[in-house]
Amino acid sequence: MKVLVTGGLGFIGSNFILNILQNNPNYTVTNIDAELTGSNLANLEELNNSHNYRYVKGNITNKILMEKLIEQNDCIINFAAESFVDRSILDANQFLVSNIRGTYTILEILRTQKKRLVQISTDEVFGSLKEGSADEKSRFNPSNPYAATKASAELLVNSYVNTYDLDCVITRCTNNYGPRQFFEKLIPKTIVLANQNKKIPIYGNGKNIRDWIYVDDHCEAIFKVLLDGEQGESYNISSNNEVDNLSIVKKILELLNKPFDLIEFVTDRPGHDLRYSLNSSKIQNSLKWNTKTTFNDGLQKTIEWIINNSKGENISENTLSSSPWKNS
Ligand SMILES: NC(=O)c1ccc[n+]([C@@H]2O[C@H](COP(=O)([O-])OP(=O)(O)OC[C@H]3O[C@@H](n4cnc5c(N)ncnc54)[C@H](O)[C@@H]3O)[C@@H](O)[C@H]2O)c1
Repeated sequence: MKVLVTGGLGFIGSNFILNILQNNPNYTVTNIDAELTGSNLANLEELNNSHNYRYVKGNITNKILMEKLIEQNDCIINFAAESFVDRSILDANQFLVSNIRGTYTILEILRTQKKRLVQISTDEVFGSLKEGSADEKSRFNPSNPYAATKASAELLVNSYVNTYDLDCVITRCTNNYGPRQFFEKLIPKTIVLANQNKKIPIYGNGKNIRDWIYVDDHCEAIFKVLLDGEQGESYNISSNNEVDNLSIVKKILELLNKPFDLIEFVTDRPGHDLRYSLNSSKIQNSLKWNTKTTFNDGLQKTIEWIINNSKGENISENTLSSSPWKNS
């Protein structure tokens, strides 16, 4: 099978490409990435001389380029997106371009080239939940610009399935962690700063809860949906591992044998959602998928990878290591 991956230089896309090629040596992968925030060429350096991997620098909003790439492949997995909520609050423009316009560009091409699209979405489309977990039929309630663009992309995908009978499936996952995640996100940032004995900023009181899934488990779920997901269906992916931010930071400090007084509470992000939670029994029952990695094992592997791959990374001088909302 010839697979077109968009946004494959980012965190989840790069792990997906490594996994799919390792498990299916007869597959070929073409990766298109615009090298925007979150991308890192080093993520896939090991594939540079690989006969079944091709990298194309380009933007998914470039219709002519995308037409050519889709024509050359059997299916497309759309990871490409602006993905950091903080940045979407500071300036949402690029989020609308990549996340909505980019998806629209792909959908328009698929009207004439009938290929399967797996649209990678997020639990954030359901917004903050006080209790219970969102299933595939729950109401969208996105509460930050990033989540709103991801929900918009989903609505577009569904409308094209309904109107033009396109073969699309949607996956929605909870927070991922693992190797190759961009250093501005909570877990890699905490590991790098703790390892350098620097202060670790936590928004608000640190009580925001996310359900953390190891990236390889997410990638396996996407692969199952690619092969066996039903046209027009969506699949929630979660790991039943709800943890608040403060507990995660403390756990990392413990594993690294560092003192808790490195923790520094900083001004909270505006409209910071308290809790996301997904019910993933649909994919567990219909596609026989389940997580394999425990939080302890996944965190150990992540710490090891980040420490070995973050030499010289000086995050404390990055404004995002404190709070961008301080003066607002
Ligand atoms: N990270 C998570 O915890 C998580 C959870 C659920 C869903 N998701 C979704 O998974 C996908 C991947 O997330 P990630 O964490 O790997 O993000 P990331 O920011 O690490 O990577 C995104 C990649 O997409 C590329 N990109 C962005 N806009 C592009 C464009 N217009 N054209 C071509 N390339 C473009 C970037 O250059 C980058 O390499 C996103 O769609 C995100 O919404 C992420």
